[in-house]
Amino acid sequence: MRQYSLQTHDDIPSEKLFTGEPARLGSTRTQKPPFEAKNPFLASITVNRELHKKGDRSCMHIEFDITGSRIRYDAGDHIAVYPTNNSELVDRFGQRLNADLGQVFSLNNVDEDASKKHPFPCPTTYRTALLHYLDITSCPRTNVLKELSDYTEDAKDKAFLASMAQATPEGKELYTDWIINHHRTLLHVLEDLPSVNPPIDHVCELLPRLQARYYSISSSPKINATTVAITAVLIEYTTKTGRHQQGVATSWLKLKRPTDDLQPKVPVFVRKSQFRLPFKPSIPVIMIGPGTGLAPFRGFIQDRQCQRKDGKPVGETVLFFGCRHEDEDFIYEDELKAFLEDGTLTQLHTAFSRDQPEKIYVQHLLRQQKDEVWRLLELGGHIYVCGDARHMAHDVDEVLHDIVIEHGNMTREKASDYLKKMRSRGRYSCDVWS
Ligand SMILES: Cc1cc2nc3c(=O)[nH]c(=O)nc-3n(C[C@H](O)[C@H](O)[C@H](O)COP(=O)(O)OP(=O)(O)OC[C@H]3O[C@@H](n4cnc5c(N)ncnc54)[C@H](O)[C@@H]3O)c2cc1C
Ligand SMILES: NC(=O)c1ccc[n+]([C@@H]2O[C@H](COP(=O)([O-])OP(=O)(O)OC[C@H]3O[C@@H](n4cnc5c(N)ncnc54)[C@H](OP(=O)(O)O)[C@@H]3O)[C@@H](O)[C@H]2O)c1
Repeated sequence: MRQYSLQTHDDIPSEKLFTGEPARLGSTRTQKPPFEAKNPFLASITVNRELHKKGDRSCMHIEFDITGSRIRYDAGDHIAVYPTNNSELVDRFGQRLNADLGQVFSLNNVDEDASKKHPFPCPTTYRTALLHYLDITSCPRTNVLKELSDYTEDAKDKAFLASMAQATPEGKELYTDWIINHHRTLLHVLEDLPSVNPPIDHVCELLPRLQARYYSISSSPKINATTVAITAVLIEYTTKTGRHQQGVATSWLKLKRPTDDLQPKVPVFVRKSQFRLPFKPSIPVIMIGPGTGLAPFRGFIQDRQCQRKDGKPVGETVLFFGCRHEDEDFIYEDELKAFLEDGTLTQLHTAFSRDQPEKIYVQHLLRQQKDEVWRLLELGGHIYVCGDARHMAHDVDEVLHDIVIEHGNMTREKASDYLKKMRSRGRYSCDVWS
């Protein structure tokens, strides 16, 4: 039973067609503040520079120009980017589904009383829907596989799709292996099971909405209020089926050259966060950010540098940074060394995980510096952690517990309360993602 019915249109004037706007028709043609998630600002890219010195990975320093947007931000905020899917991939989708991507259509909710009339802005073309509105690169959920099983005459493929959709241990195992572990997207499923031929409008109904990507802002408005910088690692990997996959947003941003006036601009909006420097600049700060976790701290350090220049008493500013190799992915090395030289950074601790036989991570250096960490905590210092949510933030938290237990002469329970209190008072903040 479908939730949306297909309506095709052959005579809609072009100004009535959605061309990628997330909500309001024409919002990308006539830009009006305030800019937010439903009304993003079209920013041009003024800088797109590689931060890795060598190696096969890429980390981009990108600057967006937000002049005229009236967008305000603080160091520690996030900027969201609405990406566009790869156009060759969209063409491949169209070919596989044997569809005319130029066809204008609407998907209308069959329940006329429902508040959500369409799954994404309609009327639009299939090409626009696949480029801007639909997530065509993530793994399909089990309910989608179940729906696909209706579109094959091949008994084996039908049973295979249906079995992956079953909530039994065998079904879950099959789904985890064939879809998740092999990172098969919907297109990969259709390529690997050629007997399955769903109509494009149903595929558009089944695919999830393409989401905006968030980035920690890596600049300070005190340096330039109309420039927002991000520090983004290019996502690239090969799946077990041998397919080369690229992250939607990062591969799209990678190709954007500042000099090219013909490049479409980037739809962005700023999301305020709680990740903030102490209100009083004299309070010491300890920042822990390996890899792209350094991003918000670049903004924080720029902020502190400006406060010093303004003659304010600025407290100690300590950074723990980690990367794989000193001569490869030590991002912003020159800037960090300059901050150290001019006294903005009072300590810089670097963990180069792969430059010696055993791994050295930020939390190992934090443990080495336990006396210093405790001294700064006793001075009322704030702790910030940014980057990998899966392991690093947890490991850092463990070391902080150990430091508080040892130096504060506390039980584990008391140490947890101490750190909990720090969190609730905004003295221990995390900006982490996985
Ligand atoms: C609050 C917040 C702040 C963030 N800040 C930053 C930041 O400062 N810098 C930054 O670079 N990113 C940051 N991110 C992550 C960012 O939002 C995007 O998720 C990231 O850039 C990838 O987007 P993409 O569209 O390029 O990749 P997608 O197309 O979304 O692909 C990413 C997906 O690919 C899969 N994948 C990735 N690597 C592999 C692999 N090796 N093997 C198999 N599958 C894999 C995973 O499923 C992953 O979720 C932040 C996220 C949040 C929520
Ligand atoms: N959602 C996304 O698509 C997305 C986008 C960007 C980043 N991320 C995730 O965010 C994290 C950071 O990515 P990145 O590319 O910026 O960093 P990175 O270059 O992968 O890692 C930075 C440093 O952190 C080290 N490290 C690994 N595990 C650690 C741990 N448990 N504790 C402390 N340090 C650890 C790494 O060491 P070794 O590698 O030598 O072990 C390396 O020296 C990764 O987990 C990545 O998967 C996700």
